[in-house]
Amino acid sequence: MQLFKTTALAALIGLAAAAGAEAADEAQLKAGKGVYMTKTCLACHGRGGAQPVLSYPMLAGQSADYIIDQMEAIRDGERIGTVDETTGHPFVQGMVDIMHLVTEDDIENVAVWLSEQPAAAPKPLDPAPDPDLLAAGEKAFKQLGCRSCHGDDGSKPTNKKYPFISGMNPEYATRAMTEIRDKVRTSGQSKLMWGTIKKADDEEIHAIATWLATIDRSAQ
Ligand code: HEC
Ligand code: HEC
Repeated sequence: MQLFKTTALAALIGLAAAAGAEAADEAQLKAGKGVYMTKTCLACHGRGGAQPVLSYPMLAGQSADYIIDQMEAIRDGERIGTVDETTGHPFVQGMVDIMHLVTEDDIENVAVWLSEQPAAAPKPLDPAPDPDLLAAGEKAFKQLGCRSCHGDDGSKPTNKKYPFISGMNPEYATRAMTEIRDKVRTSGQSKLMWGTIKKADDEEIHAIATWLATIDRSAQ
């Protein structure tokens, strides 16, 4: 009887602790959504981080650790990237300009919320890509060994700090790969990619980015 009571009590305490943890998660998700909706992210990265404007990156379902790293690198001027010829500013400038609005807590909360958002189907490419180009992209991705970190089709990274890269805007993916290869983007864990991406020429990068852009994470 005594044993039963102790076990029941332990179970109850366990339940209460689990409920507490869940409540904390709920509160964090709510706070993260609040940041996203009120601190301008929505205007550029779209509903739920899944419908970005122009050639901006998709964030829905992205690794929370990766999001935190990137936001800090952008805020601190460590990730600058290339200049947009049409504006004369780095592509990332619009985001740099709003980073004073977010606190460390905001960054963590919004990252956790974004990592939980469902993927959307990628925008169909216009004009529709040539099947030969897609095949070349898939082949290069496999031959160069991208799978060992980003997963079979770029959707399932092998480490929780690595980004998914499928379903991204192809201009964004091309830019990201070129910037990393040419060591314009050296922040965060970029150097992990140097050995692999240096073997890809511009044509292969274009083919890989186009192929990745056709992969629908929402269907997986
Ligand atoms: C004015 C437009 C704009 C706003 C507002 C904006 N971003 Fe961005 N964001 C960008 C652009 C553009 C890039 C990537 C630029 C590049 O390197 O090509 C980016 C990159 C990112 C990245 C890195 C993504 C990756 O795949 O590496 C994250 C994470 C991110 N933004 C989160 C946010 C969050 C959260 C907010 C709100 C607090 C926000 N952004 C507000 C335009 C914006
Ligand atoms: C050893 C692991 C590793 C390998 C191999 C690797 N990557 Fe990456 N990749 C990463 C990491 C880590 C990042 C994030 C870098 C950072 O912290 O900014 C990244 C970033 C990227 C990005 C930018 C993501 C974004 O949202 O900005 C693209 C695109 C990409 N990789 C494509 C590739 C392709 C294509 C290959 C094969 C040619 C490849 N990677 C091989 C680890 C790897």
